[in-house]
Amino acid sequence: MQTKTIYILAIESSCDDTSAAVLCNDEVLSNVVATQKIHKEYGGVVPELASRAHQQNIVPVVHQALAKANIDKKQLSAIAFTRGPGLMGSLLVGTSFAKSLALGLNIPLIEVNHMQAHLLAHFIADKDNTKPTFPFIGLTISGGHTQIVLVKDYFKMEVLGQTLDDAVGEAFDKSAKLLGLPYPGGPLIDKHAAEGNPKKYEFPIPKVGELDFSFSGLKTSILYFIKKEVEKDPNFISNNLEDICASIQYTIIKILVLKLKNAVKKTGIKQIAIGGGVSANSGIRKVLKDKEKTNQWITYIPKFEYCTDNAAMIGIVGYLKYQEALFSKQDITAKARYTF
Ligand code: KG4
Ligand code: ZN
Repeated sequence: MQTKTIYILAIESSCDDTSAAVLCNDEVLSNVVATQKIHKEYGGVVPELASRAHQQNIVPVVHQALAKANIDKKQLSAIAFTRGPGLMGSLLVGTSFAKSLALGLNIPLIEVNHMQAHLLAHFIADKDNTKPTFPFIGLTISGGHTQIVLVKDYFKMEVLGQTLDDAVGEAFDKSAKLLGLPYPGGPLIDKHAAEGNPKKYEFPIPKVGELDFSFSGLKTSILYFIKKEVEKDPNFISNNLEDICASIQYTIIKILVLKLKNAVKKTGIKQIAIGGGVSANSGIRKVLKDKEKTNQWITYIPKFEYCTDNAAMIGIVGYLKYQEALFSKQDITAKARYTF
């Protein structure tokens, strides 16, 4: 039996990346991401500026995705879009665009939960990567989210734990800001940490539920620590930047590993699938792979372009939903808070 070829145009606009992708079944033909640079000078994402930039980016980004894929919009089988969670103004741009285009082309519309998409990105066709099998534990770590999810099937997911305050990426970025590093500081902490002693300074591990996270206390303890040290030595940060970064990174990784150990213990599942931009962190990657060597668990990390916010991950969910005819109606609205 010959199966139908499905072309999905996917749109992601939940935060500060405007992205469009075209998939042919589970294969990515194009994945265009316009990262909004404007937020850099403000030290974080400014919601109003993000939605304005999405408005400017969306048409060229979609055009580019179709052109790169060499697909005419008349060939499309469906439009998938991020319904939430995210910034309302940002989500509205992608949602309205997707609804109008699906209506104009008279093809199905498919709504996608951004958090599910981070985890289902593992099912994008990639000859270099093996896919997790169900059930597995999903860990989503980015500037906007920190969640541990039990993934029983494509659309059967249960949040086991999540952050009670800041996301792990925010913990990196806010710590970096305290050290005078530019936004986003996560990659810079990673870079300096490589040269430092991770055990030089000790920061506290938060006491929250065994699968929950909290990073605001860490930020406060770093703030007071730096204040105290700078009073004694005004050049404390520049003289010890590598060791400070290494110690901060070590603490964050220690928290993540502790929670993963708890999740493995609680569920008996030994497959961990990672998503989100913080998975780029070299220290985290190393620790996760080291755990494989000692048979504690197997770690799956998709290609980096599918880890950060991107439309290809929305497209794979679109493809999976298309097969189940899980289509949305035209009266669907964006959802800033969208749990599953
Ligand atoms: O997934 P992402 O691109 O966007 C969302 O936040 O949704 O993640 C961006 C986050 C930022 O907080 C950034 O500092 C962090 O990922 N990040 C890193 C590294 N690369 C990106 N954090 C630590 N180490 C890195 N190498
Ligand atoms: Zn995300």
